[in-house]
Amino acid sequence: MRRLAARVRGLPPTIFSEFSALAARTGAVNLGQGFPDFDGPEEVREAAVRALRDGINQYAQGAGSPTLRRAIAEHAERFHHHRVDPDADVTVTAGATEALFDALLGLLDPGDEAILFEPFYDSYAAAVGMAGATVRPVRLRPPDAAHAAWWYDAAELDGAFGPRTRVVVVNSPHNPTGKVFSRLELEAIAALCQRHDAVALTDEVYEHLVYPPATHLRLATLPGMAERTLTVSSGGKSFSYTGWKVGWAIGPPPLRAAVAQAHQYVTFAVAAPLQEAIAVALRLPDAYFHGLGQAYAARRDRLDGSLRAAGLQPWPTEGAYFLCAEVSRFGHPSDDAFCRWLTAEVGVAAIPLSAFYARPDLAPQVARFAFCKTDRVLDEAAHRLGRLVVPAAP
Ligand SMILES: Cc1ncc(COP(=O)(O)O)c(C=O)c1O
Repeated sequence: MRRLAARVRGLPPTIFSEFSALAARTGAVNLGQGFPDFDGPEEVREAAVRALRDGINQYAQGAGSPTLRRAIAEHAERFHHHRVDPDADVTVTAGATEALFDALLGLLDPGDEAILFEPFYDSYAAAVGMAGATVRPVRLRPPDAAHAAWWYDAAELDGAFGPRTRVVVVNSPHNPTGKVFSRLELEAIAALCQRHDAVALTDEVYEHLVYPPATHLRLATLPGMAERTLTVSSGGKSFSYTGWKVGWAIGPPPLRAAVAQAHQYVTFAVAAPLQEAIAVALRLPDAYFHGLGQAYAARRDRLDGSLRAAGLQPWPTEGAYFLCAEVSRFGHPSDDAFCRWLTAEVGVAAIPLSAFYARPDLAPQVARFAFCKTDRVLDEAAHRLGRLVVPAAP
């Protein structure tokens, strides 16, 4: 008997679960899945405990706790000069993942197209597919002699926009490449959205993990973009509590409606006590956010040094918590094969970049290493990577 509906039948298991299971089975150090192996601020955890004890244990408002919505608006103004109405513009969701899913479900009809920069976080294509719409990928290309960072071909992006384009998803800082979209790039995307009457859906979960001289600019704050942008973020990465799954979407009422319409029947409301705690987190002093960026920059440098010492040459990372390195020299048939071998035989799990492509045949052979780990774990990974025998460059 056929059990699975068409909209889910073709979906592969997420690469993260697969490699985390492989890492657990083989005892590998897991630099695959991007979750911190440490807790976030103590006062935020205490705020959650307090909320549980204070009886904030029944359904929250569907749009989100008023306290959290106000904190989201204040935080947007404080860090991004983004004016947000906490009552009209905000929907609190079960992580950024739900916000993205709701937005895509709420905006796309069958026949519509969504532009995704490839490689892309895997949930986007799954959500576009479940909405019955089509992915139009635009390639990000690795740094080269002419480009210091990952880049895209402006003509390719131009050509991807057309009469069916409803949405362009912009993830900056970017998973998996660590790219932070520049002002010029965002302005070009904004101009195309305006010319083609498309909505920009931004995924800014790494908004506080940006390494100078890179700076994060919020697309919604560019001229003419407030009315056509849905900004998504969450507390997972900024506060190192990825398991809490408190996220949000910000957008003007007509776009917010797209998210809210889906949200009311996807989860309706999100864990009430954790919303109160994330409100406390968003109001932490500037020093917390500054310190977070500095701590991650130090972890990035630590892993970067270890990968280089092992003979890998990661590209520079401007944001988020990943380092990517080209691995074709090792002679495996694919980056997937390389990462499985690295996990099982070297004892360090990394994620193959091809898993983030709609067209894996166009993917370079690249491994993504997450550095959201304690020094002890990063050092153990360095020790194991020391066993790598790197073939000489051809
Ligand atoms: C780019 C990106 N978007 C969204 C998410 C998921 O965020 P959340 O845990 O808030 O659903 C992740 C998690 O790794 C991510 O890397």
